[in-house]
Parts: sequence; structure tokens; C-alpha cells
Amino acid sequence: MAIKRVGIVGSGIMGSGVAEVAAKAGYEVVLRSRKQETADAMVASLEKSLAKQIEKGRLDEATRDEVLARVSATSNVADLAECDLVLESVVEDLDVKKALFAELDSVVKDGAILATNTSTLSVTELAKQTTRPDRVCGVHFFNPATAMKLVEIVEAETTSAETLAEATEFASACGKNPVPVKDRAGFIVNALLFPYLNNAIRMLEDGIADKEGIDDAMKDGCGFPMGPFALLDLVGLDTSLSILEALHEGLGDPNYEPRPTLRKLVEEGKLGRKTGEGFYTY
Ligand SMILES: NC(=O)c1ccc[n+]([C@@H]2O[C@H](COP(=O)([O-])OP(=O)(O)OC[C@H]3O[C@@H](n4cnc5c(N)ncnc54)[C@H](O)[C@@H]3O)[C@@H](O)[C@H]2O)c1
Repeated sequence: MAIKRVGIVGSGIMGSGVAEVAAKAGYEVVLRSRKQETADAMVASLEKSLAKQIEKGRLDEATRDEVLARVSATSNVADLAECDLVLESVVEDLDVKKALFAELDSVVKDGAILATNTSTLSVTELAKQTTRPDRVCGVHFFNPATAMKLVEIVEAETTSAETLAEATEFASACGKNPVPVKDRAGFIVNALLFPYLNNAIRMLEDGIADKEGIDDAMKDGCGFPMGPFALLDLVGLDTSLSILEALHEGLGDPNYEPRPTLRKLVEEGKLGRKTGEGFYTY
């Protein structure tokens, strides 16, 4: 089945980014958030992002109009019924995502792909909530979705080869590099990345260096585009905490046990860039 219409559920950092990528790639996009105001705000932020690209000479006005004409915003799950692929990007919480998958399964047309942007949670567990486990897979974009080339295509125990091929084609059409991976906590990138991020927090707690020093060391010593604390703030500290918890539960390695400083910042509502304060202030 050729994918023409894509539903995006969740209006956070990732939902907004993927919506822009998919609309620019030529897909019809239905944005769904729990509140109509938030769904409308996603369209407004897409307009702002496209306006910036016009200012920089990277986009013309006719293309902007075409992109916006392909996007609609709703709070009603039923408006996703005719989508060929629905990608959820809601909070990293297994119970929330399980309930959402059951709801999507009851509403979205037979044969459509139901995909998750989860960073760590079990895609197989989400597939089990549906009557179409062969049509469920992970389509894991990276942050910021407009800039990062990688998409992990996650094969749950039940995913069909056809579903993987269609999801891979979607990611390629979005200009990304799709990499296949089996359904294990953290897939490729987060399973390798998060012990490093968590150990950077441990190093800070141990007083070995300050956060600016650690960030500079990893940029200038390893050629990373940003250091671990800048990256944690970009990902979101609540999301980072959920990722580490899922990795720790799934893989049992103590390197994944979230550091106390991360828990404390999340408890204080300091979630990184999205709230204006995390390890750094924005
Ligand atoms: N932040 C990253 O760097 C990153 C990268 C790749 C994938 N992801 C994954 O993408 C997903 C979303 O992450 P994000 O960074 O966009 O988070 P975010 O905090 O920016 O947005 C979360 C969204 O979930 C919604 N939400 C919260 N509680 C909900 C509930 N009970 N029911 C339905 N919706 C609810 C919020 O309204 C918001 O729209 C997560 O699964 C995360 O692991 C995040």
C-alpha cells in the first residue's frame, strides 16, 4: 500500500519536527493533539519555521503554500481514520502509549501502519494492543527531526516484512537514512548513548569537572557537535529519565540507573530547553 496520508499524534518536540519533515516530503499530514489549541499551535509553529526558511532563501513562497495546504490539525482521533500511516510521538510512558495504540487500532482503517517514535519502549508490547500486530513497527526519528538524518526502523516480533519495507520507504522519502534494528530497549543509538550521558552526570556529581568543562572536552576532544549536558537539555530531562528507566529495567546494566541529579532536576520541573532551564538556563 502506498503511503499518502500520514497522521502524527503528539504535539511535543518530536511530533512537531516529524510533521514538518513529512509535510515537506509531500505527504498529506493530519496533526492530532489532545487539545485543538495545541494542534493549531503546531501549525502556527510550522508556519514560523517555514517563514524562517524563506527568509534564509531556502524555500520559496509557492512551496510554503503547498506544504501548508497539505497539513490539517485536529483534536479528534477519528480524523486519523483515513491515514495510511499513523506515527505516535506522545510522552515516553508505556501505559499511555498502550492505551493510545488500542484507540488508534479501533479508529484507523484496516491495513494502515501504526508506528511509534518511542526511544526505548517495547514495540512488541504496543503491537499486542492491536488487532494488526503485523502492521506495527517503530519509526524512530532523532532530535531535531528536521536536521538529523537517522531513522531507526524497529522490527517488533510480529512486524511483517511488507510493513518494514513501507516504513523504510517513508523514511527515505522524508530524506532520512533508515537503519533496521530489532526491538530491544534503546535500539541502537540510545542503548549506546545513554550510559555515556548518565556517566557524564556521575562525573559532575563526583566533582571531577564542571558541566561546561565536560561539554567542552567532548566537543573538542571527540568532535561531538555538543557535549552531554547540552544534549540532555535538548532531548528533555523528563524524556531522558524515562529512557534511562526503561533501559535499566530492560537491560539491567547499572550504567543505565538514572543519576540522582537527573531525578532532582525533573522533580523541580527543570526539563531542559523546553522549560527554559535544565542543566543550563535558556
Ligand atoms: N526528545 C527527544 O530527543 C526524542 C528523540 C526521539 C524520540 N523521542 C520520543 O518521542 C516521543 C515524544 O517525545 P518528545 O520529546 O516530543 O516529548 P515532549 O515532552 O516534547 O512531548 C510529549 C507530548 O506528549 C503529550 N502527552 C503527555 N501526556 C500525554 C498523555 N497522557 N496522553 C497523550 N499525550 C500525552 C504532550 O501533550 C506532548 O504533546 C517519546 O516517545 C520520546 O521517547 C524523543
